[in-house]
Amino acid sequence: MACTIMQLTEHVGAEVRGVDLREPIDADTHAALNRAFVAHHVLVIRDQDYTPENFKTAAQVFGELQQHDKKEHHVPGHPDVYYVANDEIVNGKRIIPGETFHTDHSNHPRPPKATTLFAVQLPSRGGDTQYVSMHRAYDDLPQSMKDRIKDLRAVHVYQSKYSPRSLGKIDAASLQDIPPPGVHPLVRRHPENQRPALYLNPVRIEAIEGMADRDALALIEELMAHATQPRYEYRHRWRHGDMVIWDNRSVMHQANPDYDMAERRYLYRLMLKGTAPIGI
Ligand SMILES: [Fe+2]
Repeated sequence: MACTIMQLTEHVGAEVRGVDLREPIDADTHAALNRAFVAHHVLVIRDQDYTPENFKTAAQVFGELQQHDKKEHHVPGHPDVYYVANDEIVNGKRIIPGETFHTDHSNHPRPPKATTLFAVQLPSRGGDTQYVSMHRAYDDLPQSMKDRIKDLRAVHVYQSKYSPRSLGKIDAASLQDIPPPGVHPLVRRHPENQRPALYLNPVRIEAIEGMADRDALALIEELMAHATQPRYEYRHRWRHGDMVIWDNRSVMHQANPDYDMAERRYLYRLMLKGTAPIGI
């Protein structure tokens, strides 16, 4: 079974076929998959069939597993395999994990380099995941904006008091393990492809060092409006058997609540350890 990798859009995404990540893979395939991940930022690996343990094996082709903040959201019997689902309701409002554009766990001093999902149950339609290239968004900024944001650093907390959405409940044990806020450059250099990228997250960013909150929020809003334009996007329509892995250093992503909530959407979720973001 030959592994093929096909680019999906000009800026983001590649589709992988002909590989079964439940089984050990050879060194060439391993290297090719990791090169494609760094080059295309999102890999859609088709036709997989995983137990939670298989999914761990597959994810580790790309790095080392990282625990989630909400440890209680784990698959029963598998404390280190997590899930996202559409069944949590807080104060009468349904929590859709990832509903606005963000990058994962940026409140950590060393945020995860990657996140991966495996589709277990999907709605009959809708529930796409959108990805935008933060490399291309940065490249296209006017020079005056590049100069303005070059040395700025943002404070990322677990949930910003300015967050556009609730992150839902977190239990006391998990809350205790939340690390101190991450203070990260607004523009980071990717440690593997060396490209600069915007590093934004309105869910977590509570301040920019040396700026009044009002000015910081206005700047983040302006950069978000720029970065989330459709021209930077790959929109993933989920199919059964899809494992999708994305590079949190290169893209933001968001989930869509545009489906029948009587239908269950349930995906296994794992993250991979990253390093402290470095400015340009
Ligand atoms: Fe997310």
